[in-house]
Amino acid sequence: MTAGRLPAAVREDAAEPDRQAGEVLRLFDAKAAGWAAKYAPDGPLAARLVHLSAAVARHARAGRRVLDMGCGTGELARALAAAGFQVTGCDVSPQMLLRAARDRGRCAGWVRLEPDWRTLPFASAAFDVVVASSVLEYVADPRAVLGECARVLRPGGVMLYTVPDLRHPVRWAEWWAQRLATWTGEPSGESGRSPWPRYRAYLRASRQRHRVRWWLAASGWAGLRPVAGPADGARSALRLLAFRRADEGSGESLACDTGTGL
Ligand SMILES: C[S@@+](CC[C@H](N)C(=O)[O-])C[C@H]1O[C@@H](n2cnc3c(N)ncnc32)[C@H](O)[C@@H]1O
Repeated sequence: MTAGRLPAAVREDAAEPDRQAGEVLRLFDAKAAGWAAKYAPDGPLAARLVHLSAAVARHARAGRRVLDMGCGTGELARALAAAGFQVTGCDVSPQMLLRAARDRGRCAGWVRLEPDWRTLPFASAAFDVVVASSVLEYVADPRAVLGECARVLRPGGVMLYTVPDLRHPVRWAEWWAQRLATWTGEPSGESGRSPWPRYRAYLRASRQRHRVRWWLAASGWAGLRPVAGPADGARSALRLLAFRRADEGSGESLACDTGTGL
């Protein structure tokens, strides 16, 4: 990791990392069977695939090495592999990876991570691009994860990740639901067909909610500098941020970007 002293803006204790990791694993193992359907042409994540593939292609040429960090069932990894990138997908959820690996496609490989991993099992500077689509909101310590992503990126390599956009009404609703969950405590007994327990499990696991400037500061601490992307007026619950791993020797100056909707 390219860690120095943490700036005050991003210094805080990692929140119960082991419990968080267990909850995230259960949540996504349970979601795995239905995940790929979200990427069907009329599915809720179909646009995400197009948008992220285009973002990767904007920053890197075919043939480059891409890590899809938190790849889920592998739709993005496969789309990038089909576009000529050398792709590795990694994830903590065995059930997600099981489904990803069923379609052999042209991916370089699928790698299972320990639920509470601290170090990615890849060499430093092994990738030209790292993508983390809707992953960082689930990790216990995003700064440590960003540090690892920066380590496995080559100097000058590109990191693309999405984070919850706090300006979106869905996030306001989640904020209130989170408070409600705290006030009402754990549900007792069998809850029947109510979706509330599942939604609570999601709220507990998806706990990283920060303003964009927090993500910029955390990424900067990891040695990632923001790079400009095209402005996109679309209001989305996720925001795509793009960074380049600092190349200490180049003295390059990089423009700041506050991210696009996804
Ligand atoms: C919301 S899903 C997104 C999956 C995929 N990136 C996509 O956009 O369809 C979040 C994924 O991140 C994985 N994940 C959560 N925490 C992780 C961690 N610490 N390291 C790697 N993957 C993680 C989950 O298992 C899950 O597959």
